[in-house]
Amino acid sequence: MNCPQDWPEPIVRVQSLSDSGVAVIPDQYIKPSMERPEEFSENTQTNIPIIDLEGLFDDQHGLMLNSSIIELIYQACREWGFFQVVNHGVSPNLMDQAREVWRDFFHMPMETKQEYANSPKTYEGYGSRLGVEKGAILDWSDYYFLHYRPSSLKDHNKWPSAPLALREVIEEYGKQVVELAGKLMKVLSINLGLKEEYLQNAFGGDDIGACLRVNFYPRCPQPDLTLGLSSHSDPGGMTFLLPDHDVPGLQVRKDHKWITVKPARHAFIVNIGDQIQVLSNAIYKSVEHRVMVNSLKERVSLAFFYNPKSDLLIEPAKALVTPDTPALYPGMTFDQYRLYIRMRGPRGKSQVESLKSPR
Ligand code: OGA
Ligand code: NI
Repeated sequence: MNCPQDWPEPIVRVQSLSDSGVAVIPDQYIKPSMERPEEFSENTQTNIPIIDLEGLFDDQHGLMLNSSIIELIYQACREWGFFQVVNHGVSPNLMDQAREVWRDFFHMPMETKQEYANSPKTYEGYGSRLGVEKGAILDWSDYYFLHYRPSSLKDHNKWPSAPLALREVIEEYGKQVVELAGKLMKVLSINLGLKEEYLQNAFGGDDIGACLRVNFYPRCPQPDLTLGLSSHSDPGGMTFLLPDHDVPGLQVRKDHKWITVKPARHAFIVNIGDQIQVLSNAIYKSVEHRVMVNSLKERVSLAFFYNPKSDLLIEPAKALVTPDTPALYPGMTFDQYRLYIRMRGPRGKSQVESLKSPR
């Protein structure tokens, strides 16, 4: 099975809708009442854990095994599936540049952006929907999707040529985030009682996949009726989200409630994706999240996905499968796995849950 060559209906840029000044959003963006954001969220004080990585690694990326930080990461992966990291080694200045260069891209004339219009075949480029079902309810956002790894898929010609600094900034940004991801993969492996290199090797060693989805959430005249991004869990390995510095919007599901993330300055929001839930045999949780929009401010976020090489079989680590804890998932390649979200769009955790073997 493959994704179709083209979208099932003409693409509407949400940014154009927003800029047109409509007071009422089209029906296709109106969510069923159960899925709409609540007016007042309780738990306004609650936040996902914030973990300071200072001192976790020595200069050669050697992991400090005695560090209490490791335990904090373990708890966060189990209980939240989400955490923020500070002192993570990625240059704060580069983070700001990366976000602002993309904001500038989205503010370029529509004709310039349309040159990169994407198709459901690969999703690379400028897009406005996820999923190919005709008549589906859509999210209030546009995005840009590009490959960073493997190098065979990285093609600078598919990255915007303007703003001028974009390719260079994003090249360096990808490099630094991949480095951080490699470090965290070690921590996640050790916390499962596996060898430091286990998860990295399961992902393909040096040959991992990595891609960037830049989300642009335009202002919305009726933010209580829609979502910027519907509830979903990330299909890949691990996600490094750089949120907008001053516009909240991301919500994480915790004990059946939606918690609005309060971003710390120059932090990355890290979350476990479905592939690591599978590899860890559900010791780590890939957690549902969604994005709210607002009527006053646009929001830009960079979601960097660190994924297994797409044709490797991903299955629960053998060492974690015991008579008491049988394998919860069948093996599957990431290529097969992500077709689901690419065809149907974001649908909570329905995919990874549906794969669970009956016990
Ligand atoms: C995503 C995502 C959250 C955000 O792109 O998968 O969850 O805050 N983004 O934009
Ligand atoms: Ni996500």
